[in-house]
Amino acid sequence: MHTFEELVTEFKKRFEVRHFPQQPVSLYEPGEYFLGMGGKRIRPVMCLMGNELFDAISDDAYHVAAAIELFHNFTLIHDDIMDAAPLRRGMQTVHTKYSESTALLTGDVMMIVAYEYLNRISTLYIHRILHLFNRTAKEVCEGQQMDMDFEKQDNVSPGDYIRMIELKTSVLLAASLQLGAILGGAGEGNCRHLYEFGKNLGIAFQVQDDYLDAFGDPAKFGKDVGGDIRQNKKTFLLIHAQEVATPQQKEELKQLMLSNPADKVEKVLGIFRACNADDWAKELKQQYLDKALFHLDEVAVLSARKKPMKGLAEFLIQRDY
Ligand code: IPE
Ligand code: IPE
Ligand code: MG
Ligand code: MG
Ligand code: MG
Repeated sequence: MHTFEELVTEFKKRFEVRHFPQQPVSLYEPGEYFLGMGGKRIRPVMCLMGNELFDAISDDAYHVAAAIELFHNFTLIHDDIMDAAPLRRGMQTVHTKYSESTALLTGDVMMIVAYEYLNRISTLYIHRILHLFNRTAKEVCEGQQMDMDFEKQDNVSPGDYIRMIELKTSVLLAASLQLGAILGGAGEGNCRHLYEFGKNLGIAFQVQDDYLDAFGDPAKFGKDVGGDIRQNKKTFLLIHAQEVATPQQKEELKQLMLSNPADKVEKVLGIFRACNADDWAKELKQQYLDKALFHLDEVAVLSARKKPMKGLAEFLIQRDY
């Protein structure tokens, strides 16, 4: 068994190759730029972990892990256009550095390269892998559309929020584990529990992402802190504040979202703080972490084999970047 850190190191080593042709430079250089900016490589490592829970890590698991990371990076490039985000991983986003049109195409071609990696795996597994991969990819699009629709709605409920982050973020974490498990020969029951582990963990992960977007340290987070507030994103912070704030604060929030003044972020953060956003984030993360760990317990393998997964869970919800 390998630890989370060992798997990250091993995946990075294999993934640090050129993934695109040389020409045309104007298309492929932005792709290499983006992949070279790093990233935590959480999802591919989850695929490797899911695989190693049942068997020694296979070459197929590395191919699928690479496909997952490329797919994830494609979604980020397009997400940064949708969110008008200037920074990612401490560097300029692709559409800011190059152009929106180039960022669209760079994302598109990255997704195709992801499918080329999938096409390398054994025919024994290809149908099941593609079925789960494609279902997940569609769900991510559904979640991303909901995320944007919600920017214009002011009646988003906590349940709507959870469903939206489940789709845009957590299904990919869940599927990463399950894709690895399928390749390791896992049975249906184990696949299901592992998926639920990843899904609940993914929700806690996005809650932390939303928390960091408001309260993170810009130097560590690598993204434009306050971006969600500027875009009127319906994060749990905003939804919670809309529920518990005083009538006066509620009115202030409404006006801030309508008028976008220069001190919007600062003012909204003040209201979040007054509503004890910190405590609520902790509570929400713990709630989903508990659900996740329940399902991990139900996976029928020796508990010593699950240790790397527990390390991963801890890291994902405590992270500051
Ligand atoms: C960012 O994912 C997008 C979300 C779903 C929150 P990560 O935080 O895993 O981004 P990188 O790949 O490490 O940069
Ligand atoms: C993005 O959620 C999820 C996907 C890219 C599918 P966010 O918009 O919160 O991710 P960041 O904060 O830009 O990384
Ligand atoms: Mg974004
Ligand atoms: Mg987004
Ligand atoms: Mg975010």
